[in-house]
Amino acid sequence: MFGRVKSLDAILATAEKKSLHRSLGAFQLTMLGIGAVIGTGIFVLTAEAAQKAGPGMMVSFVIAGFVCAVAALCYAEMAAMVPVSGSAYTYSYAVMGELVAWMVGWALILEYAIAAGAVSVGWSGYMVGFVESNLHISVPLELVRGPFDGGLINLPAMAIAMIVTALLVIGTKESATVNSVLVAIKITALTLFVAVTIPVIQTGQFTPFAPLGFAGISGAAASIFFAYVGFDAVSTAAEETKNPQRNMPIGLIGSLAICTIFYMLVAAGVIGTVGAQPMFGPNHEVLSPGTPALSQACAAAGDTAVVCSKEALAWVLRSVGHPFIGWLVGAAAIIALPSVILMMMFGQTRVFFVMSRDGLLPDFFSKIHPKFRTPHVITILTGVFVSLFAAFFPVGLLADVSNSGTLFAFAAVSIAVLVLRRTDPTRHRPFRTPAVMLTAPISIAGCIYLFFSLSGPTLALFAGWAVVGLVVYYTYSRSRSHVGRGLVEVHEGDEGIPPQPVAPLPGDIDIND
Ligand code: ALA
Repeated sequence: MFGRVKSLDAILATAEKKSLHRSLGAFQLTMLGIGAVIGTGIFVLTAEAAQKAGPGMMVSFVIAGFVCAVAALCYAEMAAMVPVSGSAYTYSYAVMGELVAWMVGWALILEYAIAAGAVSVGWSGYMVGFVESNLHISVPLELVRGPFDGGLINLPAMAIAMIVTALLVIGTKESATVNSVLVAIKITALTLFVAVTIPVIQTGQFTPFAPLGFAGISGAAASIFFAYVGFDAVSTAAEETKNPQRNMPIGLIGSLAICTIFYMLVAAGVIGTVGAQPMFGPNHEVLSPGTPALSQACAAAGDTAVVCSKEALAWVLRSVGHPFIGWLVGAAAIIALPSVILMMMFGQTRVFFVMSRDGLLPDFFSKIHPKFRTPHVITILTGVFVSLFAAFFPVGLLADVSNSGTLFAFAAVSIAVLVLRRTDPTRHRPFRTPAVMLTAPISIAGCIYLFFSLSGPTLALFAGWAVVGLVVYYTYSRSRSHVGRGLVEVHEGDEGIPPQPVAPLPGDIDIND
């Protein structure tokens, strides 16, 4: 089962062909992390976390942030040692063999493609709220929400996913300057939110603190984990980092710490002003977010609770008498969220590309467009699926399913770090996970805990997806695998793959040289 291992030396030979300048410092890494992380999670899923945990969602933010921090430290050791495309998939191939790698790659499809769908739905919520509250146009619910959310199809979500797909096909990448501007916009929006809401907090709103008990807090932590996803962008920049042993943990932990502080302040602002108690059904049953039952209860209550809102932060600001700041925060989300979609879809195409290059997926996946030099076939295919997810599924379910894949991949990477310390202790590690014998097991345990705190339907979808993955592997990929067929290639860097969406500052470094 673990027999087909891709040689680490062959992978590293690939990596060595591209020599990157080490120029990223702790500050740039932190910006990279914040740019990839802040998105639909805080802007939209805060409402869903409230429905699951009530005010206790503040604890959920801390739990999820902590698990991400330990996972990030493990991720960084592998990223610095095996600095090639494919992230968790590639690391697993080298350490635990093809079957595990395939399952990790298969889970990464959930992480990236479904997350792109979730962020598209989040964007749609803000776009629709913006149009309705500022232009006073009443948008038909059927066309802006999926069937689980009381509508038929979410057209704005579908549209933004298609626009981002088109941008990726023509080779759009996000420059570091654009990233910095978007980070500034997001931080400003969250700061304004905090500045306006914290002074008018009423402490009474925090009780009962955990109306659904610790199970509710764990469930919300598993969902809100989504708000932190994306920090792997920092680990994958390991190769371009100056003094990675110092700067990597600062970049990773720094961006996660900054996001956690903002998330907790925003959560406190939401809870303390408008209250964050969950909605219950007619028989006092708990209603799950993204279900027709909750939509009906919300409609009956006249959408008077934050847990019903699809644009939670803007809604809160309007409710507390700051419509203009609500307008600004809504505009910030509309401007900034597409870049998160872009990064997620880019990550997906890159994983598909590497799996196809290894023979596990069809060759045409790695076909390159003659003019744009992008993997257009796989980008368009990914875009079609992301658009469909976005059109028909609620944001919370998409985020949860994405989390299941991400947690699986993070656990696999944490195991890989431990295994490789034992099997290959002398290999050069530009960054070593601090206290790995403690950090990696905590990371594995944390991922397992959050994984099993996800909802039953989410776990069922994950299991179904895993079974499909195994069937595809045994009927298609196993017999075509290049490693299985004894073909070990060394590639000229990442030929054909477009550059990272977050490119260095002009005059900084060139990651394509
Ligand atoms: N962390 C990213 C977001 O919340 C995926 O949108």
